[in-house]
Amino acid sequence: MFEKLFSLKGRTAWITGATRGLGLQMARCLAAAGARIATNSRTSDAATAAMEEISGEFGVTTYGAAADVTSESSIADFVKAATERLGPIDILVNNAGINFRKPTVEMPLEEWQKVIDINLTGPFICSKAVLPSMMDRNWGRVIHISSMLGTIGLAERPPYTASKGGLVLLTKTQALEVASKGVTVNALCPGPFATEMNKALLDDPVKYEAFRSKIPLGRWGELDEIDGAILFLASPASSFVTGSCLMIDGGWTAQ
Ligand SMILES: NC(=O)c1ccc[n+]([C@@H]2O[C@H](COP(=O)([O-])OP(=O)(O)OC[C@H]3O[C@@H](n4cnc5c(N)ncnc54)[C@H](OP(=O)(O)O)[C@@H]3O)[C@@H](O)[C@H]2O)c1
Repeated sequence: MFEKLFSLKGRTAWITGATRGLGLQMARCLAAAGARIATNSRTSDAATAAMEEISGEFGVTTYGAAADVTSESSIADFVKAATERLGPIDILVNNAGINFRKPTVEMPLEEWQKVIDINLTGPFICSKAVLPSMMDRNWGRVIHISSMLGTIGLAERPPYTASKGGLVLLTKTQALEVASKGVTVNALCPGPFATEMNKALLDDPVKYEAFRSKIPLGRWGELDEIDGAILFLASPASSFVTGSCLMIDGGWTAQ
């Protein structure tokens, strides 16, 4: 029964930005379930190294290369190369993302634009690149990595909250567009995890504690606590789930 629900053998999963942090963790989890794995980041060496590590550890075929999620032509080239090596993409995890923390009145337009481009336009470009093939084959999973900050506000995060909130509604719209073709589209909404993106918070004991104290479970998330949620949404276990947003935030947004 567990094999039928959660096995990804024979599937190809593309996780954007799986060179570190939550992306690398999710890539490892999907590889452990048997999927072939592809990733892109802006750094060629990091993408190649992460994929070599995963193929060595889990014995699955992998492909890593440089491709910026904001470039439609780079992403088209990446998808072509990944498909040639691993077969068509069955599962897309739109994970690549960035954050700049400043109040609106201090935020340069360039920083606003960059966050929107990577966090919101990137997932649009990547999903557009693989949805036609998924629909043709009548099976597919698109999982957008939003955030608890896609559902609530937080000061000093104008483009981050706007981009992640946009992803929540992109999830629902795309889910409606492709439901009749056997493809599901869902979002994961993590709370605070200790990754490079949160270095400024992790390095500041006052900020770290301010976050910790707001989490009902009383602690930041451990990286492997994303595994159950991503495996559920990527696998046959979630076959009747689409357009949903799964919170993994220790209860922060329940308040
Ligand atoms: N950590 C958290 O607490 C948390 C909470 C909620 C949501 N999230 C979301 O989870 C996702 C992963 O976060 P993380 O904390 O694991 O971040 P991270 O450690 O900073 O990793 C981000 C990844 O995205 C890649 N990337 C960034 N810009 C890119 C671009 N334009 N094109 C391609 N790849 C790009 C990075 O590689 P390069 O820099 O080499 O390109 C890196 O591989 C993000 O979407 C984030 O918003 C994180």
